[in-house]
Amino acid sequence: HGLHVVGEAMNPDERADMLASVNSAFGEAMLAGELVEQIASGREVSRSIGDAPKAEAARTLEKLNADLSTDHEVPAIIHALDAGYIRPVSGGDIIRSPGIVPTGRNLHGFDPFRLPSAHAVVEGARQADMLLDRFRQDHGAMPKSIALVMWGTDTLKSEGAPIGQALALIGAKPRFDGFGRLAGAELIAPEYLTRPRIDVVITLSGIFRDLLPLQTRLLAEACLMAARADEPAEVNFLRANALAYAAEHDCPLETAALRVFSNASGVYGSNVNLLIDSGAWESEEELAATYTSRKCFAYGVDGKPVRQEEILKHSLARVQTAFQNIESVELGITSVDHYFDTLGGISRAVRDAGGADLPVYVGDQNAGRGKVRTLGEQVALETRTRMLNPKWYEGLLQHGYEGVRQIESHVTNTFGWSATTGQVEPWVYRNLTETFVLDEKMRRRLAELNPKASSKLANRLIEAVERKYWAADEATLRALRDASEELEDRVEGIKVEAAA
Ligand code: BEZ
Ligand code: MG
Repeated sequence: HGLHVVGEAMNPDERADMLASVNSAFGEAMLAGELVEQIASGREVSRSIGDAPKAEAARTLEKLNADLSTDHEVPAIIHALDAGYIRPVSGGDIIRSPGIVPTGRNLHGFDPFRLPSAHAVVEGARQADMLLDRFRQDHGAMPKSIALVMWGTDTLKSEGAPIGQALALIGAKPRFDGFGRLAGAELIAPEYLTRPRIDVVITLSGIFRDLLPLQTRLLAEACLMAARADEPAEVNFLRANALAYAAEHDCPLETAALRVFSNASGVYGSNVNLLIDSGAWESEEELAATYTSRKCFAYGVDGKPVRQEEILKHSLARVQTAFQNIESVELGITSVDHYFDTLGGISRAVRDAGGADLPVYVGDQNAGRGKVRTLGEQVALETRTRMLNPKWYEGLLQHGYEGVRQIESHVTNTFGWSATTGQVEPWVYRNLTETFVLDEKMRRRLAELNPKASSKLANRLIEAVERKYWAADEATLRALRDASEELEDRVEGIKVEAAA
């Protein structure tokens, strides 16, 4: 439905779609489509439903519909500027937590002492099993070492499920004090484990590190405890690897067990996104080197960052898969450049550190019990449902120049996945080219609205050919080059009609 505009409430069609999405996440209590449409048109249906869970689901949708029908944001902004009281609400994803509306309230994230929640520990363990099952299905055996990417905001949306995932892989859990406050990590005893402790490389976004210092230490402590556990190598991969590294490099086990990495203090991102955007890079190895030099700060149990490029590279060389969750329907891995900056960046760094062609997985936690997809599957899904979907691009094009910029940005982000993982299928570029460049009517529309972004889009598709991420036939390539030149003429103010 395009971008959000402050002061504009959703129209009935948009509400019907939103309610249908929330409804489909209800699982057992799902309502018939007709009923959902009636609710979106303002009818109260819950009272006539006998089945209690379904009536409850209908009440939730009725309230959601009412909240989405009116703008709550401008009045709240004015009220805040008047120094009025703004009601608090916890933030989250609307599909999974419809209680976050109405908007226009004072968002708070979490209680830092209660994260991960008991639910997130159980849920994270289940999600970790899903990843392991999918990996085993695709590759025949279990991975011994996994790279995990964690974001701050996403972690808050699930009360810390990604932390639960990491702890489950290591075979650990959080420890709480008598007041229920987070106090550290604890290993799960071997007799309760059904598989070996898996080695992990946990990379935190700068925002995670800033928001969650207690949890950063919790993860470091879990890794150190696993490395110190007196267990045989075949049931504790983290210890086996840490012992080997300590012996080889003659360093304390505490150093060899460092597995939590992020940026230096006060620094954010891997800068792989900036390189991709500017095109100012020659080989994929440069992307890996940039990632590693930015993200090689190890956070140990004392919470202090120490540059440890050698340990990071050593750990990455062993990694057999890289994984990140997506936690909101509002953002896909091609929506913003941060996903390929983090998950893409680490994947490239693993390959560069000597790892083989790396399977990359995305855990989509948005609906029902979640789903693990390969990176290629996730990009394909987003390409079909977003970029090639007229409903998506027409929604954006209503916003004029900004809509075109968003489309271009999705294309560049897709390109970023090719550069970092090489796992984007060629048809993606072919279809994007057909839809946005070769279709003359569409090309002219985009050029009218935003000549600069249009020419960037065409040039990115050409760059993708040049970097061998897809092959265009002679005619397509010529058409792309013509389009790019025509668009550049437009940017430079040369009359296109005359040129054509
Ligand atoms: C984070 O929440 O960690 C995050 C948000 C946006 C971009 C990158 C990271
Ligand atoms: Mg940015």
